[in-house]
Amino acid sequence: MLFVLCLVPALLVVADAYGIGGTLGANPIEEIQDRFGNWGLRFILIALAVTPLRQLTGRNWLLRFRRMLGLFAFFYVLMHFLAWLLLDQGLLTSAIAGEEFDWSVITEDIFERPFITIGFAALLILVALAATSTAGQRRRLGRYWQKLHNGVYLAAVLGVWHYWWQVKKDFSEPLVYALVLAVLLGYRVWHHRLQTRVGSARNSRAGLPQNH
Ligand code: HEM
Repeated sequence: MLFVLCLVPALLVVADAYGIGGTLGANPIEEIQDRFGNWGLRFILIALAVTPLRQLTGRNWLLRFRRMLGLFAFFYVLMHFLAWLLLDQGLLTSAIAGEEFDWSVITEDIFERPFITIGFAALLILVALAATSTAGQRRRLGRYWQKLHNGVYLAAVLGVWHYWWQVKKDFSEPLVYALVLAVLLGYRVWHHRLQTRVGSARNSRAGLPQNH
């Protein structure tokens, strides 16, 4: 059920593209790109909310959905990137017309427009996380797996920063994302400190040296 629910934003883009129930507005390419970008960021934040929710409510079953939510974040960001590459930059129309595509425009955009550089870096992190998300990779990578997957924090910060940087006037939407991310990251710092304090108190009661 959750899988189908996570697909709804993508299905709505397809439905609106065919004029079923809605439209993509006056600038459909920008609309497609923006919708996928926004859902990519939302899914990163939703996936990051799983651990705090589980810890605060004690509902351990929530953890079962974290991987799927993370993979949906990757899916939506990838669609956002593909919409940019194929539709906005015109790779698809060049391919259909059989024209040669100028890849230097792509590399120029990625390396010379800072907000795109940041978005691309975030995408690369998500590619690494998605590629190592299987149980087999987790086993193979051992303790490095967690270290690698902490990269999701960086991807989230870069994602919000990327959005923030390309906004010209109204910062209210990226501000909401930034605040939600600050709460999710702040919670982790608070929880880590709490765990360390509880651990040291337990050790001192047991007569063990601190920080063990
Ligand atoms: C984790 C990675 C990324 C996230 C979370 C993300 C998210 C977003 C969001 C939320 C927006 C604003 C949408 C709006 O105006 O409502 C946006 C805009 C944009 N993003 Fe990304 N993005 C990511 C990666 C990328 C990559 C890899 C590219 C291309 C190489 C890219 C290209 C763009 C462009 C060109 C815009 C401006 C679209 C416009 O003119 O409205 N993004 N992105």
